[in-house]
Amino acid sequence: MIITGKYPNLRLRRSRQHKWSRRLVKENNLSANDLIQPIFLVEGKNKKIPVKSMPDVYRYSVDRLTQIVDKSLSNKIPMIALFPFTNPKLKNKLGTESLNQDNLVCKAIQLVKKKYKNSIGIMCDVALDPYTSHGHDGLINNNKILNDETVDILIEQSLLQAEMGCDVIAPSDMMDGRIGKIRKALDTNNFKDTQILSYAVKYASNFYGPFRDAVGSKKILKGDKKTYQMDYNNRLEAIREVALDIKEGADMVMIKPGMPYLDIIKDIKDNFKLPVLAYQVSGEYSIISNAIKNKLINEDSIIEVLTAFKRAGANAVVTYFANQIAKKLK
Ligand code: PBG
Repeated sequence: MIITGKYPNLRLRRSRQHKWSRRLVKENNLSANDLIQPIFLVEGKNKKIPVKSMPDVYRYSVDRLTQIVDKSLSNKIPMIALFPFTNPKLKNKLGTESLNQDNLVCKAIQLVKKKYKNSIGIMCDVALDPYTSHGHDGLINNNKILNDETVDILIEQSLLQAEMGCDVIAPSDMMDGRIGKIRKALDTNNFKDTQILSYAVKYASNFYGPFRDAVGSKKILKGDKKTYQMDYNNRLEAIREVALDIKEGADMVMIKPGMPYLDIIKDIKDNFKLPVLAYQVSGEYSIISNAIKNKLINEDSIIEVLTAFKRAGANAVVTYFANQIAKKLK
């Protein structure tokens, strides 16, 4: 680090004194391009159901989906992420609803692709938790999450989503080896252009609670996800996870959760030159939302946090604030 000069001839406040000069030396610029809007789906007609644990977040029936996608499009958000609230009656041990070509996600992908063509990207989670009766991302036998057997299903889930028109396949399950196997299956089935965003670094976090409520897996989840999601004590392990997923063919990687893991975002960006996405998860969203509603902090605090992700090295952020902030930034 070269510092030329010192006080009193060097005064860092000089460049801060005018709005125009602050704009000039700005190192990061948050824009709608940086935001990905998650959307929860629910079965039925003309439904828009509030998610209790997430202020201003709703589950939309497929026929009302255009309401929120229209907003995202006009706010110039590049991509949406679809998550289903599956009817509990359709859940079972194997999560077979994930492979039903008439499931909520498949219907939603088809509708969005038909109506919006390529004007907005679609990303879909690949994992079994919205579909299993035990709430885990994989298959279970004798209280153990089975890796390879789960990956076999995830491959089918990925192929189905790609066939429906999903642009970005996002495995969020944390099974070993799934990126390579999914890439290979996509390639051999004529989906060479389907992108893979790996949730490469996903910690077993306490901040996922409201999301599990939104997809209906909270009450049924048995135990925790610590045998597959990462231990938050670990930093170097994140680098190994990303290195492996790059080798296996990931186009982009996700770090999750967001704000408590800015060090990890920076580590990954410093070590690898590929797009790094961050996920500001449901718990983070609800904490900030509630604090704003209670007037403890103002809405600009959202922009501050999202900019922190950019500063740490994230190319984009999945955030439930996407529409709200993109509109504000316009
Ligand atoms: C499930 C999944 C989770 C989230 C995204 N995909 C929850 C979990 O792993 O239990 C969390 C998102 C959020 O909290 O906003 N594969």
